Amino acid sequence: MDVPSSTWLLTGGAGYIGSHVLRALRAAGHDAVVLDDLSTGLRERLPDDVELLHHDLLDPGLGAVLADLTRRRDVAGVVHLAAKKSVPESVAEPLTYYEHNVGGTVAMLRAATAAGIGRFLYSSSAAVYGETAAEPVGEDHPTLPTSPYGETKLAGEWAVRRHAEAEGLGWTALRYFNVAGTASAALADRGATNLLPLVERAARSGEPVRVFGDDWPTPDGTCLRDYVHVEDLAEAHVAAAAALLEGRSPGALNVGRNAGTSVLEVIAAVSAVRGHEVPYEIVGRRPGDPARVVADASRIADALGWRATRGIEEMCASRP
Ligand SMILES: NC(=O)c1ccc[n+]([C@@H]2O[C@H](COP(=O)([O-])OP(=O)(O)OC[C@H]3O[C@@H](n4cnc5c(N)ncnc54)[C@H](O)[C@@H]3O)[C@@H](O)[C@H]2O)c1
Repeated sequence: MDVPSSTWLLTGGAGYIGSHVLRALRAAGHDAVVLDDLSTGLRERLPDDVELLHHDLLDPGLGAVLADLTRRRDVAGVVHLAAKKSVPESVAEPLTYYEHNVGGTVAMLRAATAAGIGRFLYSSSAAVYGETAAEPVGEDHPTLPTSPYGETKLAGEWAVRRHAEAEGLGWTALRYFNVAGTASAALADRGATNLLPLVERAARSGEPVRVFGDDWPTPDGTCLRDYVHVEDLAEAHVAAAAALLEGRSPGALNVGRNAGTSVLEVIAAVSAVRGHEVPYEIVGRRPGDPARVVADASRIADALGWRATRGIEEMCASRP
């Protein structure tokens, strides 16, 4: 991709996805400064020569931190990933999620605009769609999130879009589907809520992983999701950054593979990589789980020329 190199302010850059985005930006010739409060992020995920602004989005000093940064560096835009991401935690503590995910995004928009930064790339989620009727799910599908987490990601998108329109900023929101895999053990997802880490844990411990229902209207009766390798996802951010640098605002874009993989297929893929059967037990359906969530990924291909190149086997093989 022939785009000028530039410096990006990457929030959440010490996290699972952010640390992959950081590497992809640098591999494409860009530079990045990371802003992260290290609440779930890890300092050791950052290369030594990356500047870390160890700061909470909600801290009132955010404006001064960005003003100081833009006095020292020419910042092309913000890549905003810092957020809380646990659906069950968001149900138990909705206000914490509204505060961090919506309040944090608003604070970053204000501080970035005041500091003269004119581009904003926002990390969104397939959770904005909620229980989807369509397969695959396109960006124009109604957004009816079923959890406070999904609501906060959608409200963040709205804030970004409305503010960008009012201020003439370039913007895009990437709606990630199920993110999996890692570039290295050090960058792996440490959270224990996504399916792949849970299956990996079962493979190591021998404790069966729970499968919520095998009577869904899907080929093998278990739920279908669209898994995307975190390194493909990171490359989507580089493509989006390039579009923003060209003066485009691609809006909201799905990041998925347009391929549904069932829970049993994920377990089989991990078993194949491990060379032994991963134990599992079928339990009842979990309320609120949609049977199928598969991305229509055609808009991002048209807008950014991005397509995922890694399959489920590579996600399972790139385990910590
Ligand atoms: N992991 C997924 O499957 C998935 C799917 C869809 C969307 N997302 C979105 O991707 C983004 C990154 O998720 P992740 O999986 O890398 O999670 P993560 O917890 O590994 O990373 C989040 C990072 O943000 C930082 N952070 C959180 N709150 C902050 C605050 N108030 N101020 C400063 N820093 C703060 C954390 O320290 C961490 O480094 C989130 O916005 C999440 O909603 C993730």
